[in-house]
Amino acid sequence: MKPDRDMAQTMVIFGASGDLASRKLIPALYQLECKKRLDCPLRVVGVSRTPMADEQWRNKLGETTKKFAGTAFDHASWEAFAPSIHYFSGDVDKLEMFGNLDAYLQSLEGGNESGRLYYLSTSPTLYPVIIRHLGRSGMADSSRGVRRVIIEKPFGSNLESARQLNQEVHASFDEDQVFRIDHYLGKETVNNVLVLRFGNTIFEPIWNRNYIGNIQITAHEEVLVGHRAAFYEKAGVFRDMFQNHLLQLLTFATMEPPDHFDADAVRDEKVKVLRAIRAMTPDEVVANTLRGQYRSYRDEPGVDPLSRTATYAAVRLMIDNWRWKDVPIYLRSGKGMSCRTTQIVVQFRRPPHMMFDHGKTPSMFEANRLLIQIQPAEGIQIYFQTKVPDTDMQMRQSEFKFNFRDSYQGDLPDAYQRLLLDALSGDASLFARNDEVETAWQIIDPIRRVWDDFLTTDPDCYEISSWGPSSANDWIRQWGHEWFDLCPVLR
Ligand SMILES: NC(=O)c1ccc[n+]([C@@H]2O[C@H](COP(=O)([O-])OP(=O)(O)OC[C@H]3O[C@@H](n4cnc5c(N)ncnc54)[C@H](OP(=O)(O)O)[C@@H]3O)[C@@H](O)[C@H]2O)c1
Repeated sequence: MKPDRDMAQTMVIFGASGDLASRKLIPALYQLECKKRLDCPLRVVGVSRTPMADEQWRNKLGETTKKFAGTAFDHASWEAFAPSIHYFSGDVDKLEMFGNLDAYLQSLEGGNESGRLYYLSTSPTLYPVIIRHLGRSGMADSSRGVRRVIIEKPFGSNLESARQLNQEVHASFDEDQVFRIDHYLGKETVNNVLVLRFGNTIFEPIWNRNYIGNIQITAHEEVLVGHRAAFYEKAGVFRDMFQNHLLQLLTFATMEPPDHFDADAVRDEKVKVLRAIRAMTPDEVVANTLRGQYRSYRDEPGVDPLSRTATYAAVRLMIDNWRWKDVPIYLRSGKGMSCRTTQIVVQFRRPPHMMFDHGKTPSMFEANRLLIQIQPAEGIQIYFQTKVPDTDMQMRQSEFKFNFRDSYQGDLPDAYQRLLLDALSGDASLFARNDEVETAWQIIDPIRRVWDDFLTTDPDCYEISSWGPSSANDWIRQWGHEWFDLCPVLR
């Protein structure tokens, strides 16, 4: 088979008329084309049921790309890019549609060998049927050119459904053809966690239980549930944010260094650290997790007036390995928070002996802290003690700041640009492997089962625009720790 870069590629987007395609996928492809980052000619074919001519879809996408690509949009470049976009109306439930689609793709490809990347951007309930029909129609067969599939999140709703979906996938595709996407992994700041840890010598020697007291990973949103009640009532914050984004951030912050940056080496280490997370008994789940619900959640349209769905959750996990033994990793996420922020806080231990005591108790000295801001601010802060000038030996907290935007003049690329480029070139380092997804569900399912099946109390109520229920502060203090609540300051 020819190397990828010599081969034209066709990206087929199932769910073409949907939100993700117009808001993220097409703007990302357009910007990659503008930056000349695509190695080979790319054509895009959108598939959904709504009848549309090519021209209609192009016009619609021209408007949305202008809106979502922002200053990167340029009319002439769009006009040059638009002819590579095509539309095919069809229902994925019908096997015969795939035969027709394949014939249409072959006609576009003009009988030349062409790589294909299928993007599943429909409701997740349609993933199994699309995958099955791609297999049965011969469209997954890589003897006719590279065939790959990107599967959007969520990948299953529990371990069992994730396993079933993996079985369905592997009946049609080999694992190396499969790209399970979590757009957090395409963010520059998430990738920078790996560079920070493994591209420097000064952090890794202290990145362990000897120096780190706890790690807090937060993914808070200001928005409320809004029109997503039907989905949210089933998923809650836990399935929506923890199984994918928060556990992915945990793996980047805690995994061992891979010996090289390739898909399997990276993912082997991620799976290893997920497997080392200590399983909890039901009583331990109750003690090590906390649920919250914002005050007006039950009044949202479509929400059960007695709903116990958590819109906030905090979880304390322990990693049973040499590096992290007895270091709690706190994960938390909520809707209706005082600000939108995703951040990793690495809280270092206090100095073993404080000679500058001046009558202060050790708790008044803030220990070193490393703050990695993922979004919307993108940067790193390191907090450390300095002497207050013109005092005897008084100390105060100071900080070093690194802001991505100061060191990079252009707009930081949206995560989808990076991930689409990687999938087109076959690099799966930033995509989840089958065992990784299943191991993540193995961590999440027992907690969810205790919450759903055993807990008879309501989640703790909290006000909108707060940092969650006040009980969260007492909860973390029982282990001698404090939340680091800081709205993004790096702009
Ligand atoms: N939107 C986001 O920002 C976002 C972010 C991360 C992940 N995701 C994930 O991405 C996926 C798509 O999200 P979305 O927001 O784009 O959904 P959406 O707006 O509801 O779009 C769903 C698409 O599926 C098509 N469709 C439905 N039934 C079909 C059928 N039988 N045959 C062919 N096409 C069919 C719809 O078009 P027709 O009605 O015309 O057929 C529509 O184009 C979801 O799994 C979501 O969880 C979305």
